[in-house]
Amino acid sequence: MTASIITGGAGFIGSNLVRYLAAKDPARRLIVVDSLTYAGNREYLSDLIASGRVEFVHADITDYDAMDRLFSDAEVEDIYHLAAESHVDRSITGPAAFIQSNIVGTFTLLECARKHWLGGDRAGRFVHVSTDEVYGDLGPEDPAFTEETPYAPSSPYSASKAAADHLVHAYHRTYGLDVVITNCSNNFGPYQYPEKLIPVIIKNIRDQKPLPVYGDGTNVRDWLYVTDHCSALVAARERGRSGEKYNIGSQNEWQNIDLVRLLCDTVDDLLGRERDSQSLISFVTDRPGHDRRYAIDPTKTVAELGWRAETPFEAAMRDTAAWYLENFQTLWQI
Ligand SMILES: NC(=O)c1ccc[n+]([C@@H]2O[C@H](COP(=O)([O-])OP(=O)(O)OC[C@H]3O[C@@H](n4cnc5c(N)ncnc54)[C@H](O)[C@@H]3O)[C@@H](O)[C@H]2O)c1
Repeated sequence: MTASIITGGAGFIGSNLVRYLAAKDPARRLIVVDSLTYAGNREYLSDLIASGRVEFVHADITDYDAMDRLFSDAEVEDIYHLAAESHVDRSITGPAAFIQSNIVGTFTLLECARKHWLGGDRAGRFVHVSTDEVYGDLGPEDPAFTEETPYAPSSPYSASKAAADHLVHAYHRTYGLDVVITNCSNNFGPYQYPEKLIPVIIKNIRDQKPLPVYGDGTNVRDWLYVTDHCSALVAARERGRSGEKYNIGSQNEWQNIDLVRLLCDTVDDLLGRERDSQSLISFVTDRPGHDRRYAIDPTKTVAELGWRAETPFEAAMRDTAAWYLENFQTLWQI
């Protein structure tokens, strides 16, 4: 039976991807590798692990021997690499972990892939999951990022992801490793650790606490439902050209302040309250180096992979808010 490794499979996007793959391809073994940082949680996959559908390996991607053992499994024919430190604010206060996991971790996996998939009798594909933040930021009227946009990362997080992208590309150019790199816009959906904007705002609306919005709230993000990201990753695995980059996004730009207002009304409705939570919005000092606007041009991905985002935004945001209200207590005791 062929097998896929999913690094970071106990995190937000990783756990959604594991569920997506488990449903899509029942005949494939799924091996999750995760070191369970604060952002990872075995509970996200507890049903799939208990039923034997998913094999869970508690290991750090910077541990060469542990990764080497995984790649020794002859059935492994691809890796979806998502494990990373992912929170920009944490990268500003403590960048060292970002260098280790995002750069050294990616390097370690590439070395294992090089050893096991090149020059032997079996090959595999390395799907490197990256972010639109590697491109830096845009002014209000600038065209959206394409795959040709030069890298200009602003934070230690995005710089570490950019470094990893360059390494992955170099292993293709230098050694001929079969890789695809994906650069996706902001995701939302279930299982995101409640330190990121959307779950934080939902929780604070529930608790009627101040809703922190950076700067004047006019920063723009391009939002994609997490399952649409997962389908794009599988499309890149199956149909992407080796060595290529694919931008993933749904051309769905929102100013932060408008998104927070939408969440206020959505959560008030779900809780059967008057729509008055917008009065809790509280502007806080902007993050240093804060990117003003991200926007993805997905033309190449749509044309070459036959992919497009399918989830209606506002309905998915409502389902996401309802999911957090139901799961905050069980998963995070908040
Ligand atoms: N969240 C987004 O909006 C977004 C958008 C584009 C790209 N991405 C990328 O997608 C990937 C997943 O993001 P996410 O939001 O799910 O992150 P997350 O923080 O929710 O999850 C990361 C997972 O990686 C694991 N991990 C971290 N360091 C590790 C290490 N050294 N060894 C093994 N496991 C480790 C954590 O335990 C966690 O389970 C990241 O590479 C991120 O850069 C995220």
